[in-house]
Amino acid sequence: MKEYYLYTFLLGAVALIAVLYQYHSSDNLSSEIVIDVKQRNNCSFGSFLLTGMSFCHHWLTCSDIFREVTDTQLLLGEGTQKIVREGVWRGHAVALNYLKTDFYVMDFKNDLKLLSYFSKEPKVNQLIGWCIEDLEFPIIITEKHPLGSPNKLENLFEKFPNLNTITFRFMLCVQYLEILAFLHTSTEGPFVMCDSNDPEKALSQLLLTNNLTLVINDMDAVPQVIRHNGTLIKCGHAQLFGDLVAPEQLWPFENLPFNDTAMHSYDEKVDIWKIPDVCNYLIGNGPGSSILKLHLFNIHSKCKETDPIKRPTVETVLESYLSIKKMLEKNFIKIS
Ligand SMILES: Nc1ncnc2c1ncn2[C@@H]1O[C@H](COP(=O)(O)OP(=O)(O)O)[C@@H](O)[C@H]1O
Ligand SMILES: [Mg+2]
Repeated sequence: MKEYYLYTFLLGAVALIAVLYQYHSSDNLSSEIVIDVKQRNNCSFGSFLLTGMSFCHHWLTCSDIFREVTDTQLLLGEGTQKIVREGVWRGHAVALNYLKTDFYVMDFKNDLKLLSYFSKEPKVNQLIGWCIEDLEFPIIITEKHPLGSPNKLENLFEKFPNLNTITFRFMLCVQYLEILAFLHTSTEGPFVMCDSNDPEKALSQLLLTNNLTLVINDMDAVPQVIRHNGTLIKCGHAQLFGDLVAPEQLWPFENLPFNDTAMHSYDEKVDIWKIPDVCNYLIGNGPGSSILKLHLFNIHSKCKETDPIKRPTVETVLESYLSIKKMLEKNFIKIS
């Protein structure tokens, strides 16, 4: 009798797995995208959880890294400050972020500080460990996201053509705003996403997870506005140029050479100025893009107010985006 129940249970389990498998493979996505089911939020501060792990593990120390991490030499990406290669820890693929030159060591440490400070925040890439002092090339280890950054959407759509819809593209815009929203409303005061002088650059600081959600990954240049004592920020100490740079970030004295001490500081409203360009980049020019941009015109015009005080907060922009998203979902907007 016992065997009969066991047999029925096993048969049921196999049937359930078959149904789930069918559901998953009938999904629009290729089976290469494995939906991530881990619950990293249940880990206590100072630990991490990767897909396939049963228990949270404390952040890796230098000696853990020496003993247990190997570099596969597979290049995941490269920016001005870091070179990122795939590594393996106990069979799990991870991302090894190497500092390229000592010149950026303060930015690197700022990145580590914020990755650990926000480690419980699901919109921030997961910190796995680091070794700063004991290595020739300091390293920060983070969770690897095979889909990479959303700055090269064409590559993503080549691999997964079914994702190339206006709905998915707009969902990325909404998620970009959600990241800005948590940075701006953090209890430690607004944080500003400085490394964003053009839309591609801004998006290269983010990663797309296998669950198709965006996380912020590169926080080298995410300074903090301290409202209560009036400490504003500057995005670096060099003169800024470029279409995406907000007006208050430009050197205002045309006839004088640039001088950082005479350059005024500013706040998180520089991020608001950049929203329309970043979002229009994500939306692209495919079917449905023109009508969507028309619906966004009003809120985007407000983001482009020359006076930063007149620009809306990210929450207001997000609210407006979400009501447009609702319309999209109810199909009030004919998009294709
Ligand atoms: N965890 C990761 N998983 C996959 N790709 C990554 C990961 N971290 C970084 N990359 C890729 O490497 C690029 C450079 O990383 P980033 O941290 O932005 O370097 P930098 O500080 O030099 O700008 C990113 O734009 C991204 O495409
Ligand atoms: Mg970067």
